[in-house]
Amino acid sequence: MHIDELATPAALIEDARLARNIARMQSRMDELGVRFRPHVKTSKCVEVARRQLAAGARGITVSTLKEAEQFFQAGFEDILYAVSLAPQKVAPALDLRRRGCELQLVVDSMAAARALTELALKDPVPEPVPVLIEVDVDGHRGGVAPGSALLLDIGRHLHEQGLALRGVMAHAGSSYDQRTPTQLQDIAEQERAQAVQAAGRLREAGLPCPVVSIGSTPTALSAGQLPGVTEVRAGVYVFFDLVMAGVGVCSDEDIALSVLTTVIGHQVERGWVLVDAGWMAMSRDRGTQAQPVDQGYGLVCGLDGRLLDGFLMHAANQEHGIVARRDGQAPIDIEQRFPVGSKLRVLPNHACATGAQHADYAWVDGPEVRALWPRFGGW
Ligand SMILES: Cc1ncc(COP(=O)(O)O)c(C=O)c1O
Repeated sequence: MHIDELATPAALIEDARLARNIARMQSRMDELGVRFRPHVKTSKCVEVARRQLAAGARGITVSTLKEAEQFFQAGFEDILYAVSLAPQKVAPALDLRRRGCELQLVVDSMAAARALTELALKDPVPEPVPVLIEVDVDGHRGGVAPGSALLLDIGRHLHEQGLALRGVMAHAGSSYDQRTPTQLQDIAEQERAQAVQAAGRLREAGLPCPVVSIGSTPTALSAGQLPGVTEVRAGVYVFFDLVMAGVGVCSDEDIALSVLTTVIGHQVERGWVLVDAGWMAMSRDRGTQAQPVDQGYGLVCGLDGRLLDGFLMHAANQEHGIVARRDGQAPIDIEQRFPVGSKLRVLPNHACATGAQHADYAWVDGPEVRALWPRFGGW
């Protein structure tokens, strides 16, 4: 099938860029000497994750039990569920383990640790449940402080109740707010050092801690060395997006995900080209708004994937996108240049959010659609 035959809007994955992004991250991880466990929440697509494993990744990271279930059914067994466990998710998580999934769990509170140990004791699973403690390395989200008494309390509780304390997990989400290579190297080192510190404290207390798992795309690509770290996780690198380009860890030409859209009208005096991809197709994510260069709802490319200099999706309604020049000037030949029925591609702010608006991806090699790859949503 030719790309032009796809119903629009449609999410496209450009094969060459996908392959390049996967190879780039894997070779960095190999150089750094760490195990790589990609976060598959970005694609939620078995075909994409298979390519990550084929390149050398070992195990996957998920953000929902739905992802764990879907990937397990597709043959993935080594899965880290990297969100602190809600009490009502303990039973379905243990059920997955009973069915043979090597699911590892994460907690960052005594309440979650107790909910887990209570059920694991009442309704035992064949092997001790492996658990990581989430450590807060940058004040971004959850996790316990690496120097806290709570870290050791949770560790002791899990260990004494017969669970397999596997180690610590950290995610420096504030790496997205950094702008320079030096800032990125600093946050990468902070993530590493604090996770290693937490692991050291657990070991000094006589507790097992074989795993030190860290990572985000910006820190994974900026870390100089990773002594003490056993495993790195990264997700959005697989597609990259405009936010990552704004952070400085990729270029616009690395972005593998785009939304194919059809021109449906014009506002000639205003210089607007109306397209059939609105925020429902692009998502509401305006991540670049907080960056020095605001990319609106996305950067606009021709059907061949080449950027149209100076054009962006400047506004979006539910099913209408408004493409215009960044400088606000009305191009004179707008109807000839972008006739009704012609197609454009739009690069997203945030690949995870844009992917989530679509039921499948068209996997493309230039103008050729090679396959439609299903993706899933929900929890
Ligand atoms: C726990 C955890 N690990 C890893 C990642 C991957 O980060 P990124 O998408 O920046 O690669 C995320 C993303 O939110 C995460 O929440």
